[in-house]
Amino acid sequence: MPADFLWGAATASFQIEGATREDGRGESIWDRFCATPGKVKNGDTGEPACDHYHRYPRDVTMMKELGLRAYRFSIAWPRILLEGTGRVEEKGLDFYDRLVDELLAAGIRPFATLYHWDLPQILQDRWGGWAGRDTAEAFAAYADVVSRRLGDRVKDWVTLNEPWCSAWLGYGWGQHAPGLRDPQLAITATHHLLLGHGYAVPALRRNSPDARVGVTLNLAPAHPATDSAEDGAVARLSDGLSNRLYLDPIFKGSYPADVIDGLGVSGPSIRPGDMEAIRAPIDFLGVNYYMRFVVKADPTGRNPFGEHVRVEGAERTAMDWEIYPEGLRELLARVHRDYAPAVMYVTENGAAFDDVVGPDGRVRDERRRAYLEAHFAQAARAIADGAPLQGYFVWSLMDNFEWAEGYDRRFGLVYVDYDTQERTVKDSGRWYAAMLHG
Ligand code: FCB
Repeated sequence: MPADFLWGAATASFQIEGATREDGRGESIWDRFCATPGKVKNGDTGEPACDHYHRYPRDVTMMKELGLRAYRFSIAWPRILLEGTGRVEEKGLDFYDRLVDELLAAGIRPFATLYHWDLPQILQDRWGGWAGRDTAEAFAAYADVVSRRLGDRVKDWVTLNEPWCSAWLGYGWGQHAPGLRDPQLAITATHHLLLGHGYAVPALRRNSPDARVGVTLNLAPAHPATDSAEDGAVARLSDGLSNRLYLDPIFKGSYPADVIDGLGVSGPSIRPGDMEAIRAPIDFLGVNYYMRFVVKADPTGRNPFGEHVRVEGAERTAMDWEIYPEGLRELLARVHRDYAPAVMYVTENGAAFDDVVGPDGRVRDERRRAYLEAHFAQAARAIADGAPLQGYFVWSLMDNFEWAEGYDRRFGLVYVDYDTQERTVKDSGRWYAAMLHG
């Protein structure tokens, strides 16, 4: 890897902070979702998470000890604007202010994500959340407030994390907050999320003039199960839903017609200027890579997106996701070829395994180490192929609240004991640190 390659780790506000009722924080859609019986495994909630809200100085020291050069975190909208819009809660801004100063003092470059899924619940109630166009405007106002305060020191901004997940898991299929199940709403939410992104870009540039602004997408290669024409067609459409539905508007200013047709929904209602706003030039694309999809045609022909095929004999993580490092190289090459972002970062990649702290206090997560090593090697090959990849953020710095899976799934380089809040650097974390300290 190039000497100035930006090695880091990532987290997100709701997954690590805890302190959900402190310093004026408002309710988020994830607080509400967690409080709804049956939605999150074991009834887990955003408390205590990693209690990072109180323990951040120690956590930054830990990052420094690991040798991280960059840290990607997210800002909780309901800490800043508890009503979603309007009155600003200074105490919320103060927290991120202190965090950023702490990072800079430790020589760690802060990458701030503005939206990693914790929408103020009040906007869900008022406008249907991202199903309402006003939420896009509110997001831009929030981006303005945050970048006015932090824009002198934060120089790398990610507007949205994984709008596909927000739209499809949140509004289309119901596994994530706000738990709605309507593909039409998912398309509407997609448009408003992207519009929010597009509106936020100029606000960030205005308040943080020499900053770099980007967006993070979760992308996944879609492979046909066989080389039949039918499987090829569903693979193209799956690629459309996972990848092109987000890449096309951001880089080309249009929605892929085959995907909208295949979904059998009406396209988003686009007003003059919307697509220009969405394709606002960005400085980098963040890619989150976890898996590929293998698909085959639906024998009844009813679902044009086909069916997912489970690859026999493949190694899997505790999330039951296939381990497929080659997909990362393929994906980076493809995005580079078809969309040509100036710079790319892997803003998330990592794996959940069933970690335990041994009697000697060590967490022997050899599988995670091997997983990371294999993926890093594919990233290096993508760079050799010409992809402008400049950094890599492991998901995650430490074990945390894994959304609908609660605390059951551990993705950290660092193990968290949620009863004592003790942190233990896992073997994978030690290996990563050794690599970073060179
Ligand atoms: C991604 C999310 C991140 C984390 C990983 C495992 O989709 O962005 O918050 O939960 O998956």
